Amino acid sequence: MTLLHRIRIFHATLAVLVVLAYLTAEVGAIHDWLGYGVALAMLFRLVWMTTGLPQLGLQRFYPSFQGLRLGNALAHPAISKTLLFGIALSLLATTLTGIAMDGGRTLGLADATIAAPAFANGDGRNDGESDREEGPLGELHETMGNLLILIVVLHVSYLLLFKRPLALFMLFVAKANAGKPARK
Ligand code: HEM
Ligand code: HEM
Repeated sequence: MTLLHRIRIFHATLAVLVVLAYLTAEVGAIHDWLGYGVALAMLFRLVWMTTGLPQLGLQRFYPSFQGLRLGNALAHPAISKTLLFGIALSLLATTLTGIAMDGGRTLGLADATIAAPAFANGDGRNDGESDREEGPLGELHETMGNLLILIVVLHVSYLLLFKRPLALFMLFVAKANAGKPARK
């Protein structure tokens, strides 16, 4: 299995977790577990980065505008990297605010009946899942989650329109050679 195949498996796992987390956003515990799954996937990706392989480095997410001209703008890597940068930042913000709101209750690290600050009612306790009300942290979390999905839609649309062979490879539709132009 080549590195590109492994990246594809990681990518599919992350994408499925993010989509499911978004779809279950109003459900409660399932959402929180899926959110922790996203956090674990991100942690794995950061540790994987430390192997030093250029295909896994942070520069994949850092837009470079060198050589960008009006004539080549749509095919230039600047757009796809800018979108990846946006995904990385909004994913980080969504996950961190989600974990801060949960305060370890889902993992059993804190007493589930004691509310995390975002959910505390008058006596500092939590009345249950129905109490997932929106404090400023909840608002920020929701905004970042929605922003993330917006950028993902742009990411998918752009790649399908302008880097179709690579996009189809990531969707398990095309074979490995299809992805060659971007990475070995
Ligand atoms: C929730 C959904 C998705 C998320 C969160 C997501 C996120 C990401 C991330 C983080 C990367 C960088 C991968 C890495 O280096 O580890 C990436 C790359 C990529 N994604 Fe997605 N993605 C999603 C859906 C999709 C879909 C549906 C497609 C297919 C059209 C796709 C096509 C690609 C391609 C082709 C790359 C490589 C881009 C390049 O090398 O320039 N993604 N995606
Ligand atoms: C990519 C990951 C995630 C996405 C896309 C996401 C998305 C969302 C969205 C859109 C909402 C608003 C639901 C609504 O009221 O309409 C929400 C709420 C919530 N999320 Fe997440 N979330 C993610 C990760 C997490 C994580 C890691 C946790 C914590 C373990 C978490 C905990 C919560 C909680 C407690 C709420 C209710 C807060 C409120 O309604 O203000 N989320 N999430």
